Amino acid sequence: MKISGNTILITGGGSGIGRALAHRFNDLGNIVIVTGRRMGPLTETIGKRKHMTACLLDVADPAAIKSFADSILANHPELNILINNAGVMRYEDMTSARDLGDAEAMVTTNLLGPIRMIDAFVAHLAAQPDSAIVTISSGLAFVPMVAAPTYSATKAAIHSYSLSLREQLRGKTEVIEIIPPAVQTDLTPGQATRDGYLPLETFVDQVMTEFRQRPTPEEIVVERARILRNAEQDQRFPAMMRALNPR
Ligand SMILES: NC(=O)c1ccc[n+]([C@@H]2O[C@H](COP(=O)([O-])OP(=O)(O)OC[C@H]3O[C@@H](n4cnc5c(N)ncnc54)[C@H](OP(=O)(O)O)[C@@H]3O)[C@@H](O)[C@H]2O)c1
Repeated sequence: MKISGNTILITGGGSGIGRALAHRFNDLGNIVIVTGRRMGPLTETIGKRKHMTACLLDVADPAAIKSFADSILANHPELNILINNAGVMRYEDMTSARDLGDAEAMVTTNLLGPIRMIDAFVAHLAAQPDSAIVTISSGLAFVPMVAAPTYSATKAAIHSYSLSLREQLRGKTEVIEIIPPAVQTDLTPGQATRDGYLPLETFVDQVMTEFRQRPTPEEIVVERARILRNAEQDQRFPAMMRALNPR
């Protein structure tokens, strides 16, 4: 993937990994459009930066995605990269009947969101030079966190979807999957300062090093994420399952 001279759309760009990627790509000379559900954090992401735009978009709303795609492509017909970053994570107790609102929200945001965004932009992107679609799964796609079952399942699904998408778009649009380890962001309460989680800027430094490689790796797996990504092939899955999910 080319890392400068692009026009990049990042969902969930008002905080965490999305904001940090927006800044790094903007620093490298890209036009960056950040989206999310709240204008305040998006405006903070932009600050005094040039060549950045903020737009409200709830990726759980299919009608909003369609009208957003029409308007953004009218204003930015050169758009060539989509980064599907928006996501939510909730813990769940599955041992008795419960309100499934959280589970449904995770499927809608983390899985249907990227499916709908890709659908809305794929024809445009496939016709653009140097186009790319980036997905963000998780180390939990490969070893589930028992306390976050639906979240882990949506990320496993995003990994699978990325594999198929890459083959269908080969020769037209690059598909790159970022597989983060646990990173200090506000994804869950207390996570931004949790010991043992990778500091956000360290993580994004490592991600940008991978983006600079030629060709760009199909999967961006920083050092800390490899133990989960490769658990099955390294025959460490049962050990990792136990380590990640102590009783
Ligand atoms: N941090 C980690 O340890 C980690 C590990 C593996 C994968 N990831 C993945 O990395 C991505 C970014 O997460 P993060 O850690 O940076 O957490 P974060 O700071 O909470 O970022 C998530 C972003 O998604 C946006 N968002 C949530 N629901 C949305 C919706 N329906 N429509 C549009 N935007 C929505 C949020 O903004 P609004 O609330 O303003 O809409 C927020 O800016 C997620 O996909 C997450 O699953 C994170």
